[in-house]
Amino acid sequence: MPTTVKVAAGDATDFATPALVVNLFEGVTQPGGATGAVDRALDGAISSLIADGEIKGKLGELTLVHTLGRIPSARVIVAGLGKAGDFDTGSVRRVSGDVARFLRRKGVIEYATIAHGAGIGGLDTGASAQAIAEGTLLGLYKFDTYRSNGSRDAEGEAGNGIDAVTIVERDAVNIDALASGATIGTTLAESTMLARDLVNHPANVMTPTRMAETARQVAEAVGLDLDVMDSDRMAQHGMGAFLGVAQGSEEPPKLIVLTYRGDPDNPDNNLGLVGKGITFDTGGISLKPAANMEAMKGDMAGGASVIAAMRAIGTLKPKINVTGLIAATENMPGGRAQRPGDVVTAMNGKTIEVINTDAEGRLVLADAMCYARSLGITRMVDVATLTGAMVVTLGKACTGMMGNSSELAKQVSKAGDGSGERFWELPMLEDYRDLIRSDVADMKNSGGRQAGSITAAMLLREFAEDADWVHLDIAGTSTASSAKGHLVKGATGVPTRTLAQLAMNLANGG
Ligand code: BES
Ligand code: MN
Ligand code: ZN
Repeated sequence: MPTTVKVAAGDATDFATPALVVNLFEGVTQPGGATGAVDRALDGAISSLIADGEIKGKLGELTLVHTLGRIPSARVIVAGLGKAGDFDTGSVRRVSGDVARFLRRKGVIEYATIAHGAGIGGLDTGASAQAIAEGTLLGLYKFDTYRSNGSRDAEGEAGNGIDAVTIVERDAVNIDALASGATIGTTLAESTMLARDLVNHPANVMTPTRMAETARQVAEAVGLDLDVMDSDRMAQHGMGAFLGVAQGSEEPPKLIVLTYRGDPDNPDNNLGLVGKGITFDTGGISLKPAANMEAMKGDMAGGASVIAAMRAIGTLKPKINVTGLIAATENMPGGRAQRPGDVVTAMNGKTIEVINTDAEGRLVLADAMCYARSLGITRMVDVATLTGAMVVTLGKACTGMMGNSSELAKQVSKAGDGSGERFWELPMLEDYRDLIRSDVADMKNSGGRQAGSITAAMLLREFAEDADWVHLDIAGTSTASSAKGHLVKGATGVPTRTLAQLAMNLANGG
């Protein structure tokens, strides 16, 4: 059963619940607000633990206090919020995810929390509730579809655990903002979990056909138009770059197009979201080494985030037209596979020499971007697990961003400020274009070892042409190696929430 995040009016001190979550900034010795009220009701138990040095308020610190009947809640959790100066919605997401897993381990199935930071923390009330919903739901996320022993995870923990979390608020004027924040956060978290599921499913299940089926379910659920192009139609459009990658696989490729019309009278008010959907990347004839190749089931994470963001956008209904395009195929070394040295022609007539069949993402994206432009898209963001070099450059802390429009890059960064997903821009200097010069074609698909993430973006730029375009390389950020805050080990669903936020922001003028 999915966890629900509710809002209730009342005094936290009087709220009957198995566990009540309050908070503390680092360095505070006399807690105020709701935490102070609970402390007084517990005869100073919290402030004496602070005085003893057991509670410091550091971000990530959780202290369980048994109330022994002094208040209706059986337990109080004091969650450290870190230094007040570093506090933001990211801290709330972090605390909410950590608390949810902590209480699930204790066997708690329902608990209450105060709205972190909405008082002295200076956060917008709705933003606090949104971050609580996101942190809680995403932090509790589990993928146990393939376990035959019910829904037990590697630690033997059963089920999702938490049925409901209630945000308790004393001030009646805040209730509506908290409720709508919780609703938005729930939508964004559920969409992100869809992206995670798509990535976590193995590649024998999550084929291009299955991705298209998922897109159909999303389209029906939230009211989007769907077009799924097969290889014959792609050939009619001259998508030689995409089809060159697909030809080595027995699985039929799909170019999935989801359309949301939030401002039908203004076609110029548009946004294209283009996702790499390689459902398994063996490298093709330029075969990858065996070690860790299983991780390449996640090479469709960009496409997954686009389907998921379209679900969120279809639910939240911003006043903008958004088209999601997912280039879905396997990259396999079959008997019909393309060879190093092959030259392919993309939909816009530009030719590419395939130096390395493992640089396949840029090839499928090239045609998807051309097709987006043929649909009238003048502003687009592509999302791709594009280069191993990106993992080396930025690791897992932020997503690499490149593009031809500093304005759109700023807007993506700003959307990331709201979502807590972070982006760092790399330079698109003309000098890098030299690295993908080909002896026989307009460009080659690999620039060698130097600046591997930027040369990949340089190739994509040839297909954005005069559209405003930003490229997000999520090779590092699409998966997490351990649980922390709203992240759990495995797929992250990045940058689903940022893409949805971007559409919302653009609909409101930037
Ligand atoms: N899907 C990979 C990139 C990747 C690597 C994503 C590790 C996530 C983790 C991509 O298709 C690829 O193989 N890129 C090559 C490009 C090279 C051949 C120019 C790479 O990065 O090695
Ligand atoms: Mn590859
Ligand atoms: Zn790939």
